[in-house]
Amino acid sequence: MPIFNDLILENWKESEILTDSLWIILERDKTGKHNGFYHGNFIPQIPHRFILRYTKKNEIVFDPFLGSGTTAYEAESLNRNFIGIDIQTKLVDYVKKNIEPKNNFSDLIAGDSAKFETFEKVKEILKDHRKKNVQLAILHPPYADIIKFSDLKNDLSNAKSLKEFLGQFAEVLINTIKILENGRYLAIVIGDKYTAGKWIPL
Ligand SMILES: C[S@@+](CC[C@H](N)C(=O)[O-])C[C@H]1O[C@@H](n2cnc3c(N)ncnc32)[C@H](O)[C@@H]1O
Repeated sequence: MPIFNDLILENWKESEILTDSLWIILERDKTGKHNGFYHGNFIPQIPHRFILRYTKKNEIVFDPFLGSGTTAYEAESLNRNFIGIDIQTKLVDYVKKNIEPKNNFSDLIAGDSAKFETFEKVKEILKDHRKKNVQLAILHPPYADIIKFSDLKNDLSNAKSLKEFLGQFAEVLINTIKILENGRYLAIVIGDKYTAGKWIPL
């Protein structure tokens, strides 16, 4: 099996990698650029561990639900390149201001990740950097309508039904898989939904 990371297997005990299937993380990382202001963000340790496990330095991490930039900051501090998308321009502008690319690039797009046209922009960015694919995709979509992220029509949190939400999310996945290098990893971070006391697995 090809090795998709910079971990040294002989020294795995000295790495930060959690090898159990259940990751117990006692406290949110609040260091560096992570201030946790965004309601609906995930804890930085989640993208941190995915990036360490599934990429090597200077590879490209892709996040089509950028939010407040948790994955972007982790990619930056772990010396990976990054491409991110969010439907909310104000968030994209906020994250752009916080990123200080040194040896790696970090390119952000304001747009709808369910749309083919948005991914044409991703492909242009890849071409500008003389790359064809990304090596890891991390997707942290809205958990259907649990948190309303904006008033924008195509915001997945505004989908009118579970069917519509899943249809839009499927489009994001289809777009993402097309730019993901063959055989590499795609991680989905999602919780379930409850309506009228009923558990609705997403
Ligand atoms: C769960 S949050 C992601 C939070 C992020 N992981 C963080 O730590 O800040 C989901 C994000 O998806 C964005 N979003 C919703 N629909 C979208 C769409 N169609 N295309 C792109 N982004 C979308 C929302 O604006 C929101 O910021």
